[in-house]
Amino acid sequence: MKSQAVKGTHDVLPEEQPAWRRLLSAAEQVLERAGARPLTTPVFEYSEVFEKSVGESADLIVQKEMYTFEDRGGRSLTLRPEFTAGVLRAFIEHGMHTLPTPVKLWSAGPLFRAENVQRGRYRQFHQINLEILGLSQALADAEAVQLMYATLRACGLDRVHMRVGSVGDPEDRAAYNAYLRAELEPVQQRLSETSRERLRLNPMRVLDSKSEEDQALLAPLERPIDFLGEAARAHLDQVLAFLRDWGVPFEIDPGIVRGLDYYRRTAFEAHYQGIGAQSALGGGGRYDGLVENLGGPPMPGVGWAMGVERVLDAMAQEALAAAADEAPELFLVPLDDAAIAEVAALAVRLRRSRRVEHAYVRRNPGKGLRDADRSGATFAGLRGEAERRKDVLQLKHMASGEQTEVPVSDLEGFLDARA
Ligand code: HAM
Repeated sequence: MKSQAVKGTHDVLPEEQPAWRRLLSAAEQVLERAGARPLTTPVFEYSEVFEKSVGESADLIVQKEMYTFEDRGGRSLTLRPEFTAGVLRAFIEHGMHTLPTPVKLWSAGPLFRAENVQRGRYRQFHQINLEILGLSQALADAEAVQLMYATLRACGLDRVHMRVGSVGDPEDRAAYNAYLRAELEPVQQRLSETSRERLRLNPMRVLDSKSEEDQALLAPLERPIDFLGEAARAHLDQVLAFLRDWGVPFEIDPGIVRGLDYYRRTAFEAHYQGIGAQSALGGGGRYDGLVENLGGPPMPGVGWAMGVERVLDAMAQEALAAAADEAPELFLVPLDDAAIAEVAALAVRLRRSRRVEHAYVRRNPGKGLRDADRSGATFAGLRGEAERRKDVLQLKHMASGEQTEVPVSDLEGFLDARA
């Protein structure tokens, strides 16, 4: 057996954890200050949950990207490809629709999509997800966009740009799809295979084609924004007015399309140059009607998810990985056999309030100090026969080389005073 992770999955190594934590704590702080509460849902759900929510023509279904399997009882289960469906299932199941609105829920964790693997596109990846339920006003859409931007800024990223647009109300989408079909069907032989398939199932998605020939055919055509009805247009204008008012930088994306079908009206994405073709750090939009589709009451909603791996890639571009706070304050060195148990017991006690490591075998002072140096410790604490007689440690400040004899009973006071 080869020691190799499954294609499209990856380990998060210790040295990558500080950036990971920085993103999680930025999200926690920004989102909870805005009233979002954390929610953890299972990694798998009954397949219907996703089949009902993501939409028949969504990439996830069309491109068979869902990891679906049968359990022993013959029920079809699916590893979650996104958070929204499971979060709404939980929202309905636990009667959260009876809480005062808005209800804001945020989640973080792994998702699974059987995608073609490339930079920024994995089979197990992670998202931070936010849902705002119960508000149909444009103010909620604007708040969602602002919170995505603020979370990315709180990670230190300052080259993020938001793209905001509208996919319209269902009738606007239908009109636009009919228009695209009428324009593109006569030339469909010149479209890529993916675009031909999309033209059949969800014409709007053709706009997202990566093929240059497709884009050339699309260039003279109108965009969804030109087909917005009065209500959707007014809604979008209000969203944009709030964003301008709050100083959230954005550009209008007249042809924004998303890979999931449940969006209505506002759709938005955060992009970042310099992380390859998959430049979307996150995306989201309004999904009125989805709670009902999943068996709940009528309940408007808007939300987003950001891809953790892509955000970390962007943070690495800006050298924002956050200094690792991994070094111990004290590294204890037993200079004889009897001291091994003594330093271990001392470490157990000191670790209640500080970071302490020690050598596990007897060391001579030279080797012991080298171990301490490698650990990055601020102080080395040497303990041998001579120290035992007086119940002290020889403490060496690693940076200055300064050495002090400190009684074990005064150790914590000494370290506190030097902190
Ligand atoms: P999504 O656009 O499918 O939306 O995914 C959101 C973000 O997750 C993407 O912008 C990207 O950063 C990241 N992502 C998606 N697929 C992958 C992948 N295979 N590998 C790495 N990163 C990936 C949703 O998932 C919606 N549920 C968002 C939402 C929440 N809408 C309303 N509420």
